[in-house]
Amino acid sequence: MKESNKVALITGITGQDGSYLSELLLEKDYTVHGIVRRTSNLLRSRIEHLRRDEKIYGQRLFLHYGDLSDSTTLRRILHDVCPTELYHLAGQSHVGLSFEIPESTCEETGMATLRLLEIVRAHPLPVKFYHASSAEIFGAASASPQTENTPLRPTSPYGCAKAFATQLARVYRQSYGLFVCNGILYNHESPRRGENFVTRKIARAAARIARNRDDDLVLGNLESRRDWGRAQDYVQAMWLMLQHETADDYVVATGEAHSVREFVEAAFAVVDLPWEKYVKHDPSFDRPTEPVRLVGCAEKIRKTLGWKPAGSFAQLVREMVDAELAAIDSRQ
Ligand code: NAP
Ligand code: GDD
Repeated sequence: MKESNKVALITGITGQDGSYLSELLLEKDYTVHGIVRRTSNLLRSRIEHLRRDEKIYGQRLFLHYGDLSDSTTLRRILHDVCPTELYHLAGQSHVGLSFEIPESTCEETGMATLRLLEIVRAHPLPVKFYHASSAEIFGAASASPQTENTPLRPTSPYGCAKAFATQLARVYRQSYGLFVCNGILYNHESPRRGENFVTRKIARAAARIARNRDDDLVLGNLESRRDWGRAQDYVQAMWLMLQHETADDYVVATGEAHSVREFVEAAFAVVDLPWEKYVKHDPSFDRPTEPVRLVGCAEKIRKTLGWKPAGSFAQLVREMVDAELAAIDSRQ
């Protein structure tokens, strides 16, 4: 087997983005190391296909136990793996939940990023560092669409923690010359999205109602608007940032906003059902505050790195609903 000198370490490898990024890097001949938490369930569904592939697992893909709170282990893994690129994706990623568990969210999202930046600063070899920042840093955005220069005005504990981590990443780049990039990513979705995020919840319910597995779909705010893209395209943007000669921050977005209601309409249209009959509102899914006018301007990454999103909103919705239908039908 050819030894590649491209070695990536991914925190959050079992998440939506970590799984697609692993596939992308393996295709590009990287050796990929991922940090996984100890859990009572050994099944890591999004990367199980890679784990079962004996040409990959233990050859070019390696998993290491670690937790974002455990700096001695993180330091040891970095020392042993000696990555050329570090993709820091791990953390509690649900904005609504961050109001319920603010302390652990801020610890995992904010302090853990600082911890990793410090470990990388002390590492004797250069490591290119990707930080998974978020549109949530803009919160009550002062301008729309947002760019890399839009002021940070987060409206959730999660957004505050990402803003803290984003600014620290900038400070470490400016103060110590570390190669650190903030990918300021807007919502990106896929059939691998967590089931408690709104797009997956809708796609799953539309398919289950169509196959008589469920009777209704209970949602929060239907009028919220988001800039939704495809996760597969967004991990490509992460990789491109670390290939550029200089480190920088980039907004990654489609530039188009749609409401939750539009997502619902499009999903139920795929299964040819009248959504009004099935969708109910439960205020417990409403958030204490919502960001406003979140839509990104991806001009900088388009011009500098040649990145652009592929596919339309309608295609994304269809892809997600079709995947749910296929999953149900394959179990029959
Ligand atoms: P995700 O599916 O929720 O994955 C989160 C990952 O973090 C999982 O692998 C999870 O492990 C791991 N993790 C959580 N807490 C950890 C801890 N204490 N120690 C070690 N690992 C931990 O999130 P995603 O959608 O892939 O997003 C990746 C990153 O991008 C996140 O930081 C998210 O906040 C950020 N982001 C996402 C979007 C988006 O639209 N998807 C947009 C902007 C920014 P388990 O599998 O064990 O739970
Ligand atoms: N999750 C959820 N569940 N959201 C709902 C529901 C529901 O039942 N009903 C309405 N919504 C609304 C939320 O209030 C929000 O306005 C919108 O749907 C999107 O919610 P999520 O899918 O949970 O995503 P998010 O925008 O809060 O956060 C995602 O995108 C961020 C980037 O903008 C996450 O991936 C974050 O990690 C990411 O940083």
